[in-house]
Amino acid sequence: MFPDLTRDDIFRLETKRLWLRWPRASDAAAITAFAALPQVAQMTASVPHPYPAKEADRFIFKARAENAEGKALHLAIARKSGSQPVFGIVSAKANGVQEVEIGYALAPEMWGKGFATEAVKMVVDTIFALTPALRILANSRVNNPASRRVLEKSGFAYLDSGLDMLPARGGLHPCDRFRLERADWRHDGKRLPPMAHQRRSAADAAIGAPIADPAGELHDC
Ligand SMILES: CC(C)(COP(=O)(O)OP(=O)(O)OC[C@H]1O[C@@H](n2cnc3c(N)ncnc32)[C@H](O)[C@@H]1OP(=O)(O)O)[C@@H](O)C(=O)NCCC(=O)NCCS
Repeated sequence: MFPDLTRDDIFRLETKRLWLRWPRASDAAAITAFAALPQVAQMTASVPHPYPAKEADRFIFKARAENAEGKALHLAIARKSGSQPVFGIVSAKANGVQEVEIGYALAPEMWGKGFATEAVKMVVDTIFALTPALRILANSRVNNPASRRVLEKSGFAYLDSGLDMLPARGGLHPCDRFRLERADWRHDGKRLPPMAHQRRSAADAAIGAPIADPAGELHDC
């Protein structure tokens, strides 16, 4: 699903205030500091609580392996200013050949400053610019209005609610389901990553050929 460009750990995305980059072994302590908190873990499908020793190392290893295989794009979130530690994770994972599912979590001291929305918008633009995905999916526990708001601000539409499997929460839980279709994706050119001219497949790579996306829109950037 994800192209060669994102499969190497030199890949990174830049937003106004953030770097989104591959997680590194040296991020383990910073990731543990927020992932181990109950108010973070309990809202996610996959972060265990209590957070086992070495869980961040395991996550980082798996995230890098999936990034390298092109199955996913797991990115650590860090401020651009200074050398502050990673304070969040945003993940996009292929779900079949046409869909990508996203998830995210931030350290509580950074909540309410628009950082999750800034990261999610950039990841959405990157998915639609660099992969053939037709839609992006996201789930939010029904008692998580902040996550719901992040999705709404990022252009997602509410689909329905139901019981979804949250493996780290030990079973089925009521969740709101959201979807963003490529056809409904409203990007402003300023947010598009500058590497959007990367060809997505060998077929796209014909010299000088504009990129045709599945919605029939042409990008020649
Ligand atoms: C969900 C989460 C990523 C949001 O991060 P964030 O950086 O605070 O998000 P943003 O600042 O971009 O946007 C948050 C929005 O939610 C709103 N919000 C926060 N708490 C709220 C509440 N209790 N009720 C209603 N809205 C709320 C904020 O006001 C803001 O909306 P606004 O810009 O319209 O005012 C963060 O709370 C988190 O990491 N939670 C734990 C893990 C998690 O829930 N992950 C998502 C799993 S689906």
